[in-house]
Amino acid sequence: MAYITEKNLTDVVLKRWQDIPDPRLKEVMQSLIKHLHAFVREIEPSGEEWFKAIDWITRTGQMSDNKRQEVILFSDVMGVSMLVDAMNNRLDTGATPTTVEGPFHVANAPEIANGGNMAKEAPGIPTFVTGKVRSLDGAPIAGAMLDLWQTDGEGLYESQRGTEEPWMRGVFRSQADGSYSLRTVAPIAYTIPMDGTVGELMEQTKISHMRPAHIHFAVSAPGYHKVTTHLFQKGDEYIETDVVYGVKAPLIVEFEKKSGGKAPNGEVLNEPFYVVHYDFILQKQAKAQAA
Ligand code: BEZ
Ligand code: FE
Repeated sequence: MAYITEKNLTDVVLKRWQDIPDPRLKEVMQSLIKHLHAFVREIEPSGEEWFKAIDWITRTGQMSDNKRQEVILFSDVMGVSMLVDAMNNRLDTGATPTTVEGPFHVANAPEIANGGNMAKEAPGIPTFVTGKVRSLDGAPIAGAMLDLWQTDGEGLYESQRGTEEPWMRGVFRSQADGSYSLRTVAPIAYTIPMDGTVGELMEQTKISHMRPAHIHFAVSAPGYHKVTTHLFQKGDEYIETDVVYGVKAPLIVEFEKKSGGKAPNGEVLNEPFYVVHYDFILQKQAKAQAA
């Protein structure tokens, strides 16, 4: 075996880590060693700096559990979550693009009838969302499941409100003609959690820690590629600087302001409200997988 020098160390480690029966694990470890060594060679950390990094990684892991995921948040602000999402959802032009799920989705949301209100008594400007679920060839998709979650009009998700009952989430189904309709309140822009190690890091930068106002959707139908995505409010001041890089052009929608009157679900309101129209375009499963 060659004795170690600064120069030969990377090659010696790569050689040692070749002895891995699983070819995928071998590929991943070889690449990790190459890039990790190149990173360390480039930044040339002092011992003190390296220990600071180890301490930060340790605390990031220690903060994470099934309620709080600081490691995922780090992946989000590094743009890695969106990169992994993009590589696993290469859809045809015209299909509704995906974006990160984020940490606030809660499974088993209550089913709400078409046109129903998922905001109940939550604060915020009433907002009516309508549209169709269609396939790429334009055909309506009946019975698609639309699982929604979002902040209320004060920027808080259910887990941040700590409510007993479901808060600002619900499952809707598309109708025979592919249409869906629902009532909610307008979400507002919010900050990612800043009280952890990721916040500590962000505070040392001038990077915005805000997410622009959005509604999360997971839209699925048998035989179609599931689309987990958001609709973003056009004109939001953070639309260009989303801290988790989630904004894609086809997902920016107009929240059209009405002064009152008849809403798309037939309700009549004496107060201002928004109307949002969006068609979700799904791609056949086999096609999306083969892409
Ligand atoms: C969210 O949209 O809910 C979210 C996504 C990534 C990090 C924090 C929040
Ligand atoms: Fe969100």
